[in-house]
Amino acid sequence: MAIRNIVILTGAGVSAESGVPTFRGPDGLWEGHRVQDVATPEAFARNPVLVQRFYDERRAALGRVEPNAAHRALARLDAEWPGALLLVTQNVDDLHERAGSTRLLHMHGELKRALCTGCGAAPAWEGDLSGNPPCPRCAAAALRPDIVWFGEMPYHMDAIGAAIDAADLFVSIGTSGAVYPAAGFVDWARSAGALTLEINLEPSAGTPLFDSARHGPAGVLVPAWVAELLG
Ligand code: APR
Repeated sequence: MAIRNIVILTGAGVSAESGVPTFRGPDGLWEGHRVQDVATPEAFARNPVLVQRFYDERRAALGRVEPNAAHRALARLDAEWPGALLLVTQNVDDLHERAGSTRLLHMHGELKRALCTGCGAAPAWEGDLSGNPPCPRCAAAALRPDIVWFGEMPYHMDAIGAAIDAADLFVSIGTSGAVYPAAGFVDWARSAGALTLEINLEPSAGTPLFDSARHGPAGVLVPAWVAELLG
């Protein structure tokens, strides 16, 4: 089958070699916190200062990391692939765009964006939110990180669904397959008739669902795969 339409899903593993910690490390903690203490609306309601500081630190840390060979290879594919291509990332870092990807959707939000809890504005944001800066649009309500927390609806699901329905090839890179709806994209893509490939450091929960899998570091495997695809 000739491949024309490609959907790529990335997770924390694509940024691991840049020095951004993944979520489900061996200790089960994310930067020393239980995920439910920092990544739920309930946690934010209970302890907004802790949650704002946590994301302020993650946002500031982006200034100390750089895109790696996997991000750069995906940006090259974006620039050179003549067919349709959509890169869907679960990551809230900005490394795909800094590498040059443009056909990109952040389904779990972005560290470098704030979200007004009153008017819904989502302004680009570089600094801290813990000092309770006013919303630049309504000046009335509090800003929170524009991050999709557990229990909230991921962004861009209509556009992602349309791209998967039209996909000839679905590739999942650096994700454990533990969090839905992203973990269900492989089944969806297969039902839509796409070939499916997993690229991950190690077998994931979803490995048996893919037509093929390549296991090793994304910084090595992704540039090799892109080079094959571009011939
Ligand atoms: N190259 C490729 N894969 C890697 C690398 C690497 N260098 N390092 C780690 N991995 C793999 C791990 O083996 C693991 O399977 O990346 C995966 C990362 O999994 P998670 O930490 O669970 O991250 P992710 O799948 O992106 O999490 C999904 O969970 O908490 C939420 O909203 C958050 O978007 C996140 C979602």
